[in-house]
Amino acid sequence: MEVVIAPGDELARLAAEAIETLLTGRPQAVLGLATGSSPLKVYDELARRHKDGLSFARARAFMLDEYVGLPDDHPERYRNVIEKEIASRVDFAPGAVRGPDGNAADLARACADYEEAIAAAGGVDLQLLGIGTDGHIAFNEPGSSLASRTRIKTLTRQTRQDNARFFGGSVDDVPRHCLTQGLATIMSARHLVLLATGRAKAEAVHQLVEGPVSAMWPATIMQLHPHATILVDAAAASRL
Ligand code: GLP
Repeated sequence: MEVVIAPGDELARLAAEAIETLLTGRPQAVLGLATGSSPLKVYDELARRHKDGLSFARARAFMLDEYVGLPDDHPERYRNVIEKEIASRVDFAPGAVRGPDGNAADLARACADYEEAIAAAGGVDLQLLGIGTDGHIAFNEPGSSLASRTRIKTLTRQTRQDNARFFGGSVDDVPRHCLTQGLATIMSARHLVLLATGRAKAEAVHQLVEGPVSAMWPATIMQLHPHATILVDAAAASRL
C-alpha cells in the first residue's frame, strides 16, 4: 500500500490526476464511484478538468452502494447524489453510470445482476473509496465477510449516526438497510484509491494501515491489494 499524507486539496488533485491519466490512456475505462463527503473535492476537480477537455464520453462507472427504500427522487439516494456531484457535471453517455437498485422488488436478484454487470464491463479499473469511522468501506460494516460480494446489509447505529447529518440530523430518517458491493467485489478492482481527512478518521486509518487484517476493521483487507493508494491529511494520519 502506498500512503500519501498531504493537505486535502492536494489529495483531491492526486486522485483526479490518477483518473485523468487512466482515461487518457484508456478512454473506455471503468471507474468506481464513491459517495460520502470524502470524494467531493475529487469530483470538483474532475468537473474542472472536464471543462479543460477531459472526456468521460466512452467511460463507464459503477457505484459502491445504495440505501434501500428511499424514494426515487430523495436527494440522499446515492444514485441522485452521484448524478448531482459528478455524473451531471461531465459527459458520461446515457446509462453509463450504474448503481445497485435499492428499490428493486427482488433485492437479492438486483445484487446478483449488479455483480454480473460489473463483470460484463470487464471489472473496475480504478475504485474511489472513503472510509467510515468504524473502518467500513462502501457499506461493509465490521464483521463483513472478507469474501463478500454485492448483497443486502444492515447499517450499524454508528454509521446511521455518522450519516444523520445528510438527513437533517435525524438518525431515525437514515435507512436501516443498504445494498453494497462486497469486500471481494471491491478487491477485484485493479486500483483502489481511498481518501480520508479529519481526526475522526484517525483510528480507522491507523487500523487500515497498521492493524491486522480483520473483518472487524473491513478496510484492512486493502493491505492484500496489489495496487492500493491511501490518501490522507495530517489529521487522519495522526495515529500512524
Ligand atoms: C458512507 C458511505 C461510504 C463512505 C463513508 C464515509 O457510509 N457508504 O462509502 O466512505 O460513509 O463517509 P464520509 O466520506 O462522508 O466520511
